[in-house]
Amino acid sequence: MIFTFIAWQTLSTAFFFTVLYFLHVLNAKFFQQAVTFSGHGPPSYPVIGCLISFYKNRRRLLDWYTQLLSQSPTNTIVVRRLGAKRTVVTANLKNVQYMLKTNFKNYPKGKPFTEVLGDFLGHGIFNVDGELWRTQRKLVSHEFSTNSLREYVMNTLREEVENRLLPVMQSVLTENKAVDLQDLLKRLTFDMICKVSLGTAEQHRSLDPTFPICPLAEAFDVSSEICARRGAATLSLSWKIKRLIRVGSERRLKEAVQEVHVFVSRVIRDKIRDMNERAASGNDDLLSRLILAGHDERTIRDLMISFIMAGRDTTSAAMTWLFWLLSQHPNIKQDLVREVELVVKKRRSNLDYESLKELKLLNACLLESMRLYPPVAWDSKHAVEDDVLPDGTIVKSGDRVTYIPYGMGRMEQLWGKDWFEFRPNRWLLEPEKGGTGEIRKMCPYKYPVFQAGPRDCIGKEMAFIQMKYVVASILRRFDVEPVNQGCPVFVPFLTAHMAGGLPVRIRKRNISKHDGNEFARLIGANAPDFRSLG
Ligand code: HEM
Repeated sequence: MIFTFIAWQTLSTAFFFTVLYFLHVLNAKFFQQAVTFSGHGPPSYPVIGCLISFYKNRRRLLDWYTQLLSQSPTNTIVVRRLGAKRTVVTANLKNVQYMLKTNFKNYPKGKPFTEVLGDFLGHGIFNVDGELWRTQRKLVSHEFSTNSLREYVMNTLREEVENRLLPVMQSVLTENKAVDLQDLLKRLTFDMICKVSLGTAEQHRSLDPTFPICPLAEAFDVSSEICARRGAATLSLSWKIKRLIRVGSERRLKEAVQEVHVFVSRVIRDKIRDMNERAASGNDDLLSRLILAGHDERTIRDLMISFIMAGRDTTSAAMTWLFWLLSQHPNIKQDLVREVELVVKKRRSNLDYESLKELKLLNACLLESMRLYPPVAWDSKHAVEDDVLPDGTIVKSGDRVTYIPYGMGRMEQLWGKDWFEFRPNRWLLEPEKGGTGEIRKMCPYKYPVFQAGPRDCIGKEMAFIQMKYVVASILRRFDVEPVNQGCPVFVPFLTAHMAGGLPVRIRKRNISKHDGNEFARLIGANAPDFRSLG
């Protein structure tokens, strides 16, 4: 099999380069005059479009698109290349509002998207349009609005963080070793989302970094990475042929998806049996609720897989980038530590749901961190009918229309000249109150990090609860410092992550006497002095 795979890889690469070379020569000879540098997209040639520059930039597509978008007067570009749909890429907030809300019906995810993810996500909420989507959305929105789910999330969080995450960090500190914070947070959020959705998680030392990642999490990693590569392939035909003859990455994908399906189906059947035997109503997890609502096993399985995908790496990515940004902004980090201590002391409790609401500065830091490093870096829809976007860009039926939260967070037109600065202040209504004021309401189409409109993220509130609880709990006890200097690399798979992880050293946080006095003063004061904020 390995020889078939190597032969296939070699043949397909050789074929691709031969075709590319042939087309390049053809272009140079006959069409050189026709090259277009419109300023609204990459240089394009007849027949191959921008295939050459696309291929050259294939490993840095996000930054390439962002650069082109910032050079376009409307922040929109059109990308044409051989072997792919005409693609409109936009960072224009009016266009984004139009496609996500005003003309929502014309911009479903579409077949090309659902085809890429279909083997993995089936008909789960993430991967369907129309009535199939509407029904699941209604069902899940209802469950997400219940207080009992919120309470269940808080209890699960407390258990996971206090009894597992913090002890693991303490033991890393005691042994004076470095640990990959991204890996640790990924393990934690995977267990969290499995508990909230399935009511179960791989418990046995799954957070311990000296233990291998659990097979289910690994299968999710493999599946989402290979699906993301399908979506970014220069020629989609290549993965379709590999799938047909079951070689290479497509074979690995099939095995990984099989593992996910078997595991989730087993949990569903166990839960149904358990509920039948005990004539019980199950627990507060989502699975018990879906079973009670009478849905069939396949629908529940696909929905659960979509959920685990949605709720897993998103929050861990956001927290990882925040910890890195804080290490580059020690004054802001110090203010955050003060804010957490202040809130805890004021309420004379450990972190609970109400106290999390008061962590305004932390909220602002998370929003600002996700502006620069959004966990879902881009998202595509496919036009049903011909249309014209508000900035005048023509859309043809079947075109791919992509909006890029990563690029939007970097547009001077949207965020000003200091867009590149990590400045949580921009999110606070009264920055002089240093985090005690309210969070500024931001147009969701300017900041579509959680998408916006009818299909916005259902788990946003849960995500903030989780991220605030975890970040605040770590900051109160530990100081984490990256081992490596330099800016990490942002890798946008289905959900983004940091290339190579974030190796850190952990130290015990010492709350100084000065800070202690400061807390006492702050507890009595309405407007604490957060001098170094953004
Ligand atoms: C920082 C954390 C998160 C971010 C940035 C985020 C972002 C997003 C984005 C951009 C979408 C739209 C994706 C698309 O349609 O292709 C989405 C959808 C969704 N998210 Fe989140 N998400 C986060 C956390 C969560 C969590 C914790 C959950 C669940 C527990 C969740 C559940 C969902 C679901 C179910 C959808 C599908 C909604 C629909 O299609 O109607 N998300 N999220």
